[in-house]
Order: sequence, then C-alpha cells, then structure tokens
Amino acid sequence: MAGFKRHVFVCLNERDPSDPRGCCKQRGSEEIFEVLKDGAKKAGLKAEVRINRAGCLDHCEHGPTVVIYPEAVWYHVPTVEDAQEVLQSHVVDGKVVERLLIDRIA
Ligand code: FES
Repeated sequence: MAGFKRHVFVCLNERDPSDPRGCCKQRGSEEIFEVLKDGAKKAGLKAEVRINRAGCLDHCEHGPTVVIYPEAVWYHVPTVEDAQEVLQSHVVDGKVVERLLIDRIA
C-alpha cells in the first residue's frame, strides 16, 4: 500500500536575519527535525512514518512549525524536549499534544 501511517513535515525554511518575519531555521527547527527523524528510526517506525523537510508552512511567527498527517495537526515545537514529546505522544501513540497546538497560541 502506498503512503505512510504518519507523515511529518518540519519547516526548515531560512530567511535573511534582517527579515522581520524571521524563520523556523533561526528558531532551531534543524534540531527539531533531527530529534523527530532519529527518534522515529529508533522507535522502529522507519517503514511506517516519514519525517520530511519542508519549506515555509506559512506559520512563521509560530515556528518551529511541524504538521503531522493524516490528522493534519499543526504544532509549534520550540524545544528538543517538546519534539521528544510530540514524537512519543503523537507519532508513536497517536495522541495529540494539545498544549503545543498552533491553534492554542495563534
Ligand atoms: S518559516 Fe517556517 S513556517 Fe514560515
């Protein structure tokens, strides 16, 4: 069957430091990406879950921005610890991390 059980996109867009919009890369999204990617692999989910780099996801002010499908859940993931929680709770166990939802902070 084509597709994945979960597909995770992490914004790694980078803008010039003078750009007033800022960007997820300046806010640490590369580290968030690595935590999710390594964590999914270590959890034995390599065949079921794909962690992909993404360009701007248009929530720049809430970054680092992460979106998980098929649920279409949008997260603000500011720290490595938050990324570990999203990995374990949502990616592994299928339970949304309510406190990190972009809708909560937007
Ligand atoms: S720069 Fe990450 S959402 Fe726009």
